[in-house]
Amino acid sequence: MSITKICCIGAGYVGGPTMSVIAQKCPHIQVTVVDLNEARIAAWNNPDVNKIPVYEPGLADVVAEARGRNLFFSMDADKAIDAAEMIFISVNTPTKTYGAGKGQAADLRYIELCARQIARVAKQDKIVIEKSTLPVRTASSIKSILDHVGNGVQFQILSNPEFLAEGTAVADLHQPDRILIGGDNTTTEGRAALEALVEIYAHWVPRERILTTNVWSSELSKLTANAFLAQRVSSINALSELCEQTGANINEISRAIGTDSRIGPKFLKASVGFGGSCFQKDILNLVYIARSYGLHEVAHYWEQVIIMNDHQKSRFAKKIVRTLYNTVSGKKIAFLGWAFKKDTNDTRESAAIYVADELLAEQAVITVYDPRVPAGQVYADLDYLKSRAADENRDLVKVAADPYEAMKEAHAVAILTEWDEFRTYNWQHVYDVMLKPAFVFDGRGIVNREALEQIGFHLYRIGSGE
Ligand code: UDX
Ligand code: ADP
Repeated sequence: MSITKICCIGAGYVGGPTMSVIAQKCPHIQVTVVDLNEARIAAWNNPDVNKIPVYEPGLADVVAEARGRNLFFSMDADKAIDAAEMIFISVNTPTKTYGAGKGQAADLRYIELCARQIARVAKQDKIVIEKSTLPVRTASSIKSILDHVGNGVQFQILSNPEFLAEGTAVADLHQPDRILIGGDNTTTEGRAALEALVEIYAHWVPRERILTTNVWSSELSKLTANAFLAQRVSSINALSELCEQTGANINEISRAIGTDSRIGPKFLKASVGFGGSCFQKDILNLVYIARSYGLHEVAHYWEQVIIMNDHQKSRFAKKIVRTLYNTVSGKKIAFLGWAFKKDTNDTRESAAIYVADELLAEQAVITVYDPRVPAGQVYADLDYLKSRAADENRDLVKVAADPYEAMKEAHAVAILTEWDEFRTYNWQHVYDVMLKPAFVFDGRGIVNREALEQIGFHLYRIGSGE
């Protein structure tokens, strides 16, 4: 089966970049990305490609190349679904905030809505691909909806989890370590669907890097990959606290163990805690699935990764309070960074939100500077926690467009994101405009200890005791 038209439901951090790269690499395929959110679609269609809603290095160029040629962003989902032979579902699957599994299970209502919409609209056979991170066996629910509500049309369901990391999405899509496709290879139709998707990726990915599995292995592999990565961060963060007590240095330890080829150097950077839309959500999912099969030890084992991460964020906030003479009430604390990592404007589950929340509970006054996150997002993130009234968040938290303005007359600077530009600041100037004694709390291990201490700063870095 040769694919000529693709539709993707959901124009977010996954759907947007992934479809842009497919369109770039397969100019003969028409790719239409649809979304319910009108403002989002309008932003993807902004003639100025630097104003598209997702910030990723290199993405603007890809969109500039393909948009209008064979890449389209539209509100008309029915039309795009009807026309396409292949439909990606790339909508958000947040953790449930209500009912059974609240706080752990994935909320699948957006997925179900998509399945019902596809079932209603489809007039010919279609391949439906789950691209969002989903708990194991979601594909079978999607299939059940499609088969029972559809108009006698045949659907093949594939799972094709995305492994791109935000901030490096375009590079990850161009040169993936592997592409994973789960499908049903026990039937002719299933094999044909698998092959159709393999063929698309094969336009730029070497075939030996395209792995096919059964649907459930594919779904569970995605959760497993993220759980393993998050576990490394929590493991190194757990040791960072011990380093602070003993005088060992976590960066030296990371280097020492990272050179062991069995361990490897990646994901060993101690930090104020991991964030992002995937790690926490996927581990909670794993925990929920394990528990629902009665596997309590398994659930408990993975849950500890999250507990450690919450502890890391909280102990960073407590360290600030303790160091500032046990009170931050009315004190100005400058936050450098709000995004969950550098090179993205995404703030979902960012450590900064939780550190801010704890400091606000102590009545601190916070000024945030982030090169890519707008003020509205900072307030939305804080309001979402419902720890205090919305106007209180606006009274206590300011968002500065200029970093030096944010740090002026501050008691302390807290570094929450590892943006490159923070490394090149004129720290002497920062020292001059801050209140004394001037404190820097480096949650990302990016500033040079000697240089800052020479200027006169008191510096705290995660995981080093001296
Ligand atoms: C992750 C997975 O890497 C990706 O494969 C998956 O598809 C989606 O989830 P992402 O959330 O974009 O990607 O970011 P990632 O680079 O994995 O970082 C997650 C968090 O861990 C960030 O907050 C990052 O700052 C933190 N981190 C990462 C560390 O604290 N230390 C490290 O050594 C690495
Ligand atoms: P991700 O990081 O998984 O891409 P995002 O929240 O960035 O998550 O993107 C998901 C997108 O899916 C959002 O823009 C949301 O508006 C869209 N969406 C959710 N449900 C539907 C639906 N039923 N039809 C179309 N778009 C949807």
